[in-house]
Amino acid sequence: MCGIVGYTGKLNAVEVVLSGLRKLEYRGYDSAGIAMLHDCSMDVLRAVGRVDALARKTANISYVPHNAIGHTRWASHGRPSEINAHPHCDNTGQIAVVHNGIVENYSTLRSELLQSGAKFLSETDTEVAAVLIGHLYKGNLVEAVIQATQRFEGTFALGVVCIDHPDMIVGARRGPPLAVGAADDGAMMLASDALPILPYTRNVCYLEDNQIVALQPGKMELYANGVQIEARLQKICWTAEESERGGYRHYMLKEIYEQPAVLRRLAANLVANAGSLSPVSPPTFNLDNFPLNNDALRKLSRVVIVAQGTAFHAGLIGRNMIERTVRIPVSVEYGSDFQYRDPVIDPSVLVISVSQSGETADTLGAVRLAKERGCTTLAIINTVGSTIARESHGVIYMHAGLEIGVASTKAFTAQIAALYVLAIHIGLQRGTLSDADAVRRVADLLQVASRVDEALACAEQVKAVALKYKDSANALFLGRGTGFPLALEGALKLKEISYVHAEGYDAAEMKHGPIALIDERMPVIVLALKGRRYDKIISNIQEVKARGGRVIVIASHDDTEIADKVDDVIRVHDDRGIMNSIVCAIPFQLFAYEIAVARNCDVDKPRNLAKSLTIE
Ligand code: F6R
Repeated sequence: MCGIVGYTGKLNAVEVVLSGLRKLEYRGYDSAGIAMLHDCSMDVLRAVGRVDALARKTANISYVPHNAIGHTRWASHGRPSEINAHPHCDNTGQIAVVHNGIVENYSTLRSELLQSGAKFLSETDTEVAAVLIGHLYKGNLVEAVIQATQRFEGTFALGVVCIDHPDMIVGARRGPPLAVGAADDGAMMLASDALPILPYTRNVCYLEDNQIVALQPGKMELYANGVQIEARLQKICWTAEESERGGYRHYMLKEIYEQPAVLRRLAANLVANAGSLSPVSPPTFNLDNFPLNNDALRKLSRVVIVAQGTAFHAGLIGRNMIERTVRIPVSVEYGSDFQYRDPVIDPSVLVISVSQSGETADTLGAVRLAKERGCTTLAIINTVGSTIARESHGVIYMHAGLEIGVASTKAFTAQIAALYVLAIHIGLQRGTLSDADAVRRVADLLQVASRVDEALACAEQVKAVALKYKDSANALFLGRGTGFPLALEGALKLKEISYVHAEGYDAAEMKHGPIALIDERMPVIVLALKGRRYDKIISNIQEVKARGGRVIVIASHDDTEIADKVDDVIRVHDDRGIMNSIVCAIPFQLFAYEIAVARNCDVDKPRNLAKSLTIE
């Protein structure tokens, strides 16, 4: 998704902005640009491709600007090209604008502006925004931005500069996040998230919807609905070092290896009495922001989980956990569909959103609809202070740390663990889970990190298997029960970072159609742990083998018979419940990673993808 960075202060603004844009690369982008103010003039440079291409262009400037705004663009209106890249200027060339989001009524505004003589160079909605701001500008930039944003339908985070105000940046937000930072030396920054700001200050303020900010060195003025209000800065607790690769070749790999630590931290944060668990001392949880008291919990009629992508897959696993534990119906919905389908919900329904970024527009829309219909909303979120976290009645933070790799890994397993805790908590409150069972389950949670450590020790073996199949054009992932969402996730990981076409299916569903795809060129990755459905999975494997398919299984560590039936075996130490879904995610993540590396794909910046999808 597009990224914005602005800096006004004593340092070389080009250097600050370019280094900030590099920190936002994880969001995904296809072009980049910068507007630099200097001595009552402005230069705008743009380049298709990586920030490095833009940096080569800025290397030729002969002055040191102290005010600049930059942008990485993820194409929504108009293909990736220099002309469509941001910043865009108004017709006088005095005002430059960077934008994340979509101005939905841009064609109406464009027609109006054309009628009054305006000209457009690009196909973008952002240029319409810039031209409109220029049209409304009568010497007061803040006023012009306020008036223009009142006319915008849709979503935007904006950064605006103007030659007449050479040390000022104006920011505006409705939808996509926008953070501002105030450094001790008076410098002010604006960015799509706190990462570019952190090297300069930890004092950050996230703009709320419909707020506008005017930044000048030593001065920050915040406006809500046109009225000036006090800006409240908060201290960001994670460090700039967390955003480094820490010796790993890719962020994705680093984040895969962070999972044991994340799970240990999550358990330590959420389980209040981990040290004294016993059947007479059942688990209690640190759920300070839980939105329902015990009485309300008992009155719940059902649960709806809303999420997208990987978080949706975690939601499917959470559904199984909650249904099994609480005996209450749970459905899992794409927020994108839920919010427009006129779903049947009422105040007795708990709507749980699951999101790493806490900014996903599709999920946010579903949360807003649920609130409108009187439902209680609970968010399971990684990014502290994000929009979904703020707008929900309650929040459980995963504290998985910054996830930079576009392919979500540690957030996925943390989401499963958080949903698991939630299921135990609701089960205890509603009396469907005995104290002794709750103790057993929490003991499993406390052990899961060690099991993940063991699963990570199989990395070399997974790599060897991956290398055998790296040239396959397709792959099928199969699983049953909780193995089905894992199959979906395994397929998603593979396709998003290695561009191998992959599908995840319930293993039983294979015979209802996908079996037609099986031949000797089709690797089929099957989750076949010993358990209730093991015999059925073995039958599904035989169906694949009978048609010449090549089978890789993720098998239980002690399954001595399976090797004869398949082509390759990756073993995990499985126990039960939460162990299996979290532990089995590891070989899937590593498999996708190794194939992507072997195919020379840009693992951390896969094509066309964005980390935080703030548009619908
Ligand atoms: C896949 C991936 C995406 C996200 C989805 C939701 O690896 O990262 O599918 O899971 O876009 O994002 P969040 O969790 O931020 O709401």
